[in-house]
Formats: sequence, C-alpha cells, structure tokens
Amino acid sequence: MADSKKVLLSGMKPTGRPHIGNYFGAMKQFVDLQGQFEPYYIMVADYHALNFVQNAGEMRELSHEMVLDFLAICLDPERVILFKQSDVPEHTELCWIFDTITTMPYLMRAHAYKDAEAKDKEISVGTFNYPMLMAADILLYDAECVPVGQDQKQHVEYARDTAQKFNRIFGEAFTLPEALIMPDVAVVPGIDGRKMSKSYGNHIPLFASDDEIKRQVMSIVTDSKGKGEKLDSETDNVFALHKLFSQDQLGGLASKYRAGEIGYKESKELLAENIIKFISPMRAKREEFSKDSSIVERVLKAGGEKARAKASETISKVRKLIGVR
Ligand code: ADP
Ligand code: TRP
Repeated sequence: MADSKKVLLSGMKPTGRPHIGNYFGAMKQFVDLQGQFEPYYIMVADYHALNFVQNAGEMRELSHEMVLDFLAICLDPERVILFKQSDVPEHTELCWIFDTITTMPYLMRAHAYKDAEAKDKEISVGTFNYPMLMAADILLYDAECVPVGQDQKQHVEYARDTAQKFNRIFGEAFTLPEALIMPDVAVVPGIDGRKMSKSYGNHIPLFASDDEIKRQVMSIVTDSKGKGEKLDSETDNVFALHKLFSQDQLGGLASKYRAGEIGYKESKELLAENIIKFISPMRAKREEFSKDSSIVERVLKAGGEKARAKASETISKVRKLIGVR
C-alpha cells in the first residue's frame, strides 16, 4: 500500500553534463528505486549549484538539461516528484532557521569545506553553509531514505544531526533521514584512476558520443605492461570499469588478465564497445525528449506544485514551534 512506503528524496546539482560516476553513484539508484518509496522526490539542486554556476543563461540551460538527463535514464514523472529547488522557497527559509542552531566549528568539520580550505580556495558563505541547505532539502519532506554517492554521506549525517538538534530545542518536527549507498559502486574511478569527477576532467560523460567514449577509454591510465605479460585485475583502471559495463564477461576477462592473454589495448577496445552498447539507447531517448521543448517545463511545474504543498506544511509547523507564527 502506498501509505506504508517510506519517503525518499535525493538531488543533484546542475553543474554540467553528468558522467558515468554520477550515473552509477547516484542517478541509477534514482531509477532502480522507483516504486519502492512514496512519495519519491528528485530535486534539481539549482541553489546548491549557484555556488559554482554564476551566469543566468548557463544556469537555465544546465537545469533544463538535467531534467532531460533524468527523463532519458527513465525517471518516470508519473511516479517521481521531479522539481527544482528554487521553485520551493521554503528550502532557503528552513536553511536560515538551521543556521541559527548550528555552530561554525561544526560546519568546519565538513569534508567539502576542509578540502576547499586545504587547497587554499576562497570559500563563499554559500559553500560553507552547503550542508545546512542540504539538511533543509531533506528535512522539509520528512525523507527517511536519501540515496547518494559515498562523498555525500557526511552531508546526510549533518541533516540527521540537525533534525535531532532542532527536535531537542523546539520539539518534534523532523524525521531522521538515512543515506542509502550502493557499496559495489561507491566510488567510480576516472580515466586517471582518481575518483571520477567533472572537476578533475577525468570523466566519461553519460551521454557521450561514440568517438568521445573511444577517446576517453583509450586514454585510461595503465601501467606499462605489454601484451603477453600478466595483468592485475585488482589494480587496473580498465578492469575497474569492466566491472560496471562487462559484467557477463568478467570471469573470462579476469582469467585472461591472470594468464597474460589480453593486453590493455584489447581490454580497452572491449570496454569502449560495451560502454557504447550501454549508452546508445539512453542517448537516443534523450534526443527524442529534447525535441519537445515544453516537456521539461510541464514536468517541473507539476513537480514543483506537489513539492511546495508538502514543504509549506512543514514550514508552518516549524514556524509555530519557533514562535514566529
Ligand atoms: P562531480 O564530482 O563530477 O562534480 P557531483 O559532486 O555533482 O559530481 O556529484 C553528483 C552525484 O554523483 C553525487 O551524489 C555524488 O556522490 C555522485 N558521484 C559523483 N562522482 C562520483 C563517482 N566518481 N563515483 C560515484 N558517485 C559519484
Ligand atoms: N549535495 C548533493 C551533491 O552534491 C546534491 C544535493 C543537494 C542533494 N540537496 C540534496 C542530495 C538533498 C541528496 C539530498 O551531489
């Protein structure tokens, strides 16, 4: 029965074309979990993206493109409340309320903040406060399950802590959320072996053209072993991606690696072929959706209305509890 299911919410920042790390680490779960949770919220986190994208045209386009990406991977707007964060002003309102019960040292412990600081970056207040906006995203909807990649786990813990703190100070308002992380694909490696990320330029775009896929796969970094030498499937970056794209060939491939019966070039060619097979149907679907320019607006309008109805209910309760209503 619908009302016995748990609530799910997740989101992604529209900061650029998604890559296969985003897909396996987050987006695929959004698709696979459809039907198991209700309501099921997926959000285009444009206010989070504003920390990185500070150009109106670019912001509009990236948000629009992200909805097409979601439709292409088979998120079904009939089953999923797909909405844009900025369409629901309650997010920033609740973020402010959380700011008042949160300390600076606590936010200074966030990995994202520490990384930026270690790199001597100028950190905006928005970046510093990122976890509180994310806590608001999650807690407004009473989300119990939050599917995210490993790197976002700490943010969900921040949301949970913040819910507890608010409940303790003002009275029960929030449900405690939990992160859902798929252990097998927790971190997808990029072509240089580091975590795949847009910011490292080591990624394979999810909707890449065949040529782009081949080019990226052929430039995966390997050691210098030549054909005939034994290869180590545990440490090889090519094999790490085979685990995602060549599942039915893995056993055979691993024994060829051990016996020195396959070289990196051949392994890469097989990988490129399998990635192309995997990506092309989604790419075609995306192309179809992009022909109807009104579809994105329709989906976001319907999703935004549903999200807002729930968010305004929560914020009324919160306002009462803190004494501003
Ligand atoms: P990027 O590092 O490319 O900018 P984002 O930070 O926008 O990616 O991440 C969007 C979502 O994709 C998050 O849920 C994140 O955990 C997930 N994700 C990003 N990169 C990877 C990766 N290499 N492996 C697994 N999941 C990832
Ligand atoms: N911070 C997440 C990321 O960088 C995106 C995000 C924003 C999110 N709000 C969220 C994810 C709420 C889950 C729930 O990927």
